[in-house]
Amino acid sequence: MFDAMESSSLDRWFGTERLSEAAERFTTPLYVYSAARLRDNVERFRSAFPSAETDLAFSVKACSNLSILRLLAGEGLLFDIVSAGELERLRRAGVTADRIVFAGAGKRADEIRAGLAAGIREFNVESVGEAGRLNAIAGELKTRAAVALRFNPDVDARTHTYISTGRGEDKFGVTTAEIKGLTSNWEAEFANLDLHGLHVHVGSQIREVAVWPEVVAVVEGLIDVLPSALADGLKSVNFGGGFAIDYETSEIAIDLPGVAEVLGEFAARRDVRVMIEPGRALAANAGVLLTRVQYLKERGGRQVAIVDAAMTELIRPALYGAKHRIVPVGGGASGETIPTDIVGPVCESGDFLARGVPFPKLNGGQLLAVLDAGAYGFTMSSNYNTRPRPAEVLIEEGGLRLIRRRESLDDLIGPEEL
Ligand SMILES: Cc1ncc(COP(=O)(O)O)c(C=O)c1O
Repeated sequence: MFDAMESSSLDRWFGTERLSEAAERFTTPLYVYSAARLRDNVERFRSAFPSAETDLAFSVKACSNLSILRLLAGEGLLFDIVSAGELERLRRAGVTADRIVFAGAGKRADEIRAGLAAGIREFNVESVGEAGRLNAIAGELKTRAAVALRFNPDVDARTHTYISTGRGEDKFGVTTAEIKGLTSNWEAEFANLDLHGLHVHVGSQIREVAVWPEVVAVVEGLIDVLPSALADGLKSVNFGGGFAIDYETSEIAIDLPGVAEVLGEFAARRDVRVMIEPGRALAANAGVLLTRVQYLKERGGRQVAIVDAAMTELIRPALYGAKHRIVPVGGGASGETIPTDIVGPVCESGDFLARGVPFPKLNGGQLLAVLDAGAYGFTMSSNYNTRPRPAEVLIEEGGLRLIRRRESLDDLIGPEEL
């Protein structure tokens, strides 16, 4: 469960003393991120994907704290957003609009207006209705919108069904037939839209390089049926995110140079730029969730540790059956292991962080780190059971920096006191 490798990797990127200090100073539950590991992840992508042909974006939904966005902006990344809220985060982080692409299957009119007013780089249009709405609003605002059509390639990413987004049955994107309809009379019907790209994102946690040639083949088939003026005008294809990490080792679990080769050949063949927009592979292993054991019980031969983090802080185990390694921080738990459930205080039997994992006998007050919680951790947190969301801390060269204060009860209840 927690061998020397895990402890040394935790120590390398976070420093176990720093984690103990963070828990003391800011109390638990607490999200802690490593600036060094975020930068190392960016470097892995940069060295696999030559920037001369590939734009690297970060998918904001994975981890949207302003300080993390500023750090990644400083590394030169573009950003993929799915709401006006994420657009506002980037504005406050000082990111210029020409670095922002806007996806999402249900953009409201006010969100489209916000994107147009900001002058974002590209709208990833996901339906026939959205193309019409975007064209009309751009007309009203006397502006033009740069558009990539998000294409549903009907390719199975061979991943968890909840995070598979490119099968024919999934709600995302437009089908080949819809694209044919949309583009048959583009200039007349969508006079305010400049079609300059395509966008595909087939899902998350993709481990097989072989998925990418399949996606490329479908994209090329689509380009071949576009009216030639539009096909010739294509400048870029955004292949989305989805690069897997291995939650057993915290490492990126897909051969990035292998994917880069497939996409690079496509870019050369079609004379277009390529964009990718990972979320998880850039942020997951750069964050841990610290939690303390509150109470211990014994249930049918299992040790049950009730900790102060719950599905409200990290919903992935409850939602997807995701498995995050959990390790003790700063000693205090060693010796023979017994099957252990690590559960939260929320009133749901589904409220667990780990089930049946081997753990030594724990003590009340033991500090634990839930690994690889940096992506889809805090951003999916909730206030269920009227639990204030935790603070977030960044470990950088200068030490620990609070990057989001813990919510107060007033933050939660105040809006109802009308
Ligand atoms: C359009 C789009 N791009 C990128 C991502 C990021 O995916 P991942 O975190 O798996 O890299 C998502 C995730 O849902 C997405 O919907």
